[in-house]
Amino acid sequence: EKGMYPFYMLKEIDEQPAVLRRLAQTYVTEDGQTTIDDALLTHMSQSDRIYVVACGTSYNAGWATKHAIETMTGIPVELHVSSEVGYRLPMLSKHPFFIFLTQSGETADSRQVLVKVNELNLPALTITNVAGSTLSREATYTLLLHAGPEIAVASTKAYTAQVTLMNLLGKALGMKLDRQEARDFDIVHELGLAANAMDTIINEKEVIDQAMAQLLETTRNAFYIGRGADYYVAMEAALKLKEISYIQTEGFAAGELKHGTIALIEEGTPVFGLITDTLTGPHTRGNLKEVESRGANTFVIASEALAKESDQLVMANVHEFLTPLVTVVPTQLIAYYASLHRGYDVDKPRNLAKAVTVE
Ligand code: F6R
Repeated sequence: EKGMYPFYMLKEIDEQPAVLRRLAQTYVTEDGQTTIDDALLTHMSQSDRIYVVACGTSYNAGWATKHAIETMTGIPVELHVSSEVGYRLPMLSKHPFFIFLTQSGETADSRQVLVKVNELNLPALTITNVAGSTLSREATYTLLLHAGPEIAVASTKAYTAQVTLMNLLGKALGMKLDRQEARDFDIVHELGLAANAMDTIINEKEVIDQAMAQLLETTRNAFYIGRGADYYVAMEAALKLKEISYIQTEGFAAGELKHGTIALIEEGTPVFGLITDTLTGPHTRGNLKEVESRGANTFVIASEALAKESDQLVMANVHEFLTPLVTVVPTQLIAYYASLHRGYDVDKPRNLAKAVTVE
């Protein structure tokens, strides 16, 4: 039940810190051992490439964890949109391992790829929120997101649960492969810090509420920019904003703007900048300056270490593998309040359904 919440989406945003903590408890024992099936880890440790297949928000969650998994395991990770590889599988390595990221476990586009993968007798893991769902039943292995039911059509806690679980899997696999990069990542501790950082943002949601009443009440378009991890969150942030507020939004690699898209920046265009990546953050700042000088209304979401006085929202620093978990929260709230201020049914955006069972 949504109880005191006006919409499920807000309730589900609020639940995210608890979901992180629950996942850490479910997948790591008191003495730091993983509870992930050893047969799965053995199978994955023998693969030379991981193919992550997903749609929409789940696809964005895959991107948000590519760097962490590659770093911890040393195995390259490729991302594929299900509907693009359903007819023609990507070129495969000698020992491919497939991961299907699907909150509902029922997405037809993703299932079509799994059917092909099964025909080739290749191993697959489904990561889903729904036990017994079609993709869970049909894949060799399943890991559950334990996010609790997600009612709002716009996915929030399933995204953060996917990012969390992919990190837990990367850590467990990296340990299995005896990698220093995995040993160095104290995942339970770091997830605790990320959950606390999420809590802080959620407790200050009124700031976002007020700011969006101004920034997004009437605009027709908006942009999210970032580099590295911040770019992957920008893609998810843009999807969330467009699907429930109907504001045409693009998530962009900040450095790519100048190669064409900057032509769309006008007086008053809202541009959200995400700055948590130490390596690239300063360069995104430069891109924000460029759009400001063309009239854009910028809104900067930065981590403490990289923040400036003028930034609109400052978040606690967290481990580089986990920044998407925290950065995405203000963007979910931005989408929520934009939709609310425009007077829409936040939980039930037009033309969309919770599980997409058609091709
Ligand atoms: C957006 C959203 C969709 C889903 C997509 C895949 O908020 O929820 O983009 O992420 O339809 O769904 P699943 O994860 O169930 O395969």
